[in-house]
Amino acid sequence: MKLSAQLKSQTSSAVSALDSLGHVYLEFENTLHVDSDNSPTSSSLTHFNGNKSEPIHRWFSYKEGFSSQLLSWVCKACDLNLDSVAAILDPFAGVATSLLSAQLLYRGNRTLKLVGVERNPFVASVGRTKLNWQSFDVKKIANCIPKLASKVKARGDLKFEIAELTTLRNEKVFNRRRLYDLLFARELIKNELQLGHEVNFFLLGWASIIEGASNVRKDGRALRFVDKENRQPVYKLLEARLSQMLADIRTASKALSSVKRGDVRATVFEGDGRTLDVLSSSDTRFDMILYSPPYLNNLDYSEVYKMELWLSEAVSSSAEFRRLRLQTLRSHPSLIFPETYLVDHLPAAAWSRRLRDALLELLPNDSRRRERARTIRAYMDDMLVSLRNQYIFARPGAPVICVVGNSVHGSKEYPIPIATDLLIASLAQEAGFEVEKLHVTRYTRRRDYSESVLREGILILRRPRLNARGS
Ligand SMILES: C[S@@+](CC[C@H](N)C(=O)[O-])C[C@H]1O[C@@H](n2cnc3c(N)ncnc32)[C@H](O)[C@@H]1O
Repeated sequence: MKLSAQLKSQTSSAVSALDSLGHVYLEFENTLHVDSDNSPTSSSLTHFNGNKSEPIHRWFSYKEGFSSQLLSWVCKACDLNLDSVAAILDPFAGVATSLLSAQLLYRGNRTLKLVGVERNPFVASVGRTKLNWQSFDVKKIANCIPKLASKVKARGDLKFEIAELTTLRNEKVFNRRRLYDLLFARELIKNELQLGHEVNFFLLGWASIIEGASNVRKDGRALRFVDKENRQPVYKLLEARLSQMLADIRTASKALSSVKRGDVRATVFEGDGRTLDVLSSSDTRFDMILYSPPYLNNLDYSEVYKMELWLSEAVSSSAEFRRLRLQTLRSHPSLIFPETYLVDHLPAAAWSRRLRDALLELLPNDSRRRERARTIRAYMDDMLVSLRNQYIFARPGAPVICVVGNSVHGSKEYPIPIATDLLIASLAQEAGFEVEKLHVTRYTRRRDYSESVLREGILILRRPRLNARGS
């Protein structure tokens, strides 16, 4: 079907802009190797859902994460034996799914170095705590869970100061009794129970029940009100969650108890995955880079996870919150970022320029045009910087795997199809990578839009091997 079939009621210039975009998309896509298998196994690779039944992975539900099974799929697709790998990097680590999968699966006899970079301090701490699961003292935890639960149950009318975030002060979002229970539990965990290193385990369990204790649920970019009349009191939610986490440590320890392998060292830096400047003094070069960047879908992670950020005290003022958002990859228009012009400096015939300009051409002349154009430009520049830095840190011959989802902006009458996978593939070529394959894991459908550009997939890039001259 022609893309312009969606634009029945629009002007002829809009129809031709959509046709040209469709044409450039197709022309570029024809230069790539694209395959797909719409099997349930393949489509689950780009989603977090399956992780909810996996020990340790399930310690925090991160809707935007990918599957714990992805790493095995990638190793197979790239003909790479995980046990022979020395270092893996995830520059947009989220809750560290990629690194935790590697940590649990590795059976090699050398040292494996796992490095993550994540901008959001709360999310980074989730990943770090999960990767540290082996360091927690199970006896101490087992002893402290019932103590914590019974103290929270007996809070009485102790009250606590509530952070300045409007969402937290809105009693429709959080009923006060539950919010005070949560704040009391945080106080006990941080200051009273003398938990030592295990404080991180408890704080993660505590943070993971915040959404369940509120009257909202995360739904894409928004928080939606839900009826949770029958839910458990905070002390019970907490006790159940911490007990499940404790059981996970026992299960995972048992699974690894008879395994002999080299050291696995995992770190998650709080930093910028675009510039990778946290690695600037390191001479490690990675055998695999595996990640999923923010997509060009307007999702602002700091906004979606604001309850957790503020309640965990990772952020404590509006100025700090704004500073954090300004440091995120520019995939959303929730604030005005400084502008850059990197893609503008590529040759006019470069695919990235052609794709971007065809997309900009299609933007409707309405009140959101500037904001949309700014986000598209900024996103492509940020991905170009990211890929250039990944190129530096990838060992020659190493695969770089990028999980990505496309989206359709605009309205039913005026759809703006955004093929983020093609944009990234073109930028990867600019950065020096070979694009080996785009594996489409799933064609998604929006009720009002059925174009094939709406899909999720896995881009397999490769840093070329050195030639005889070593360049
Ligand atoms: C699609 S999610 C990655 C999810 C991850 N694969 C997982 O399974 O948990 C993208 C992540 O990029 C992070 N992010 C946004 N801007 C960043 C930046 N400048 N540097 C590093 N991470 C950033 C977001 O906070 C988010 O966690």
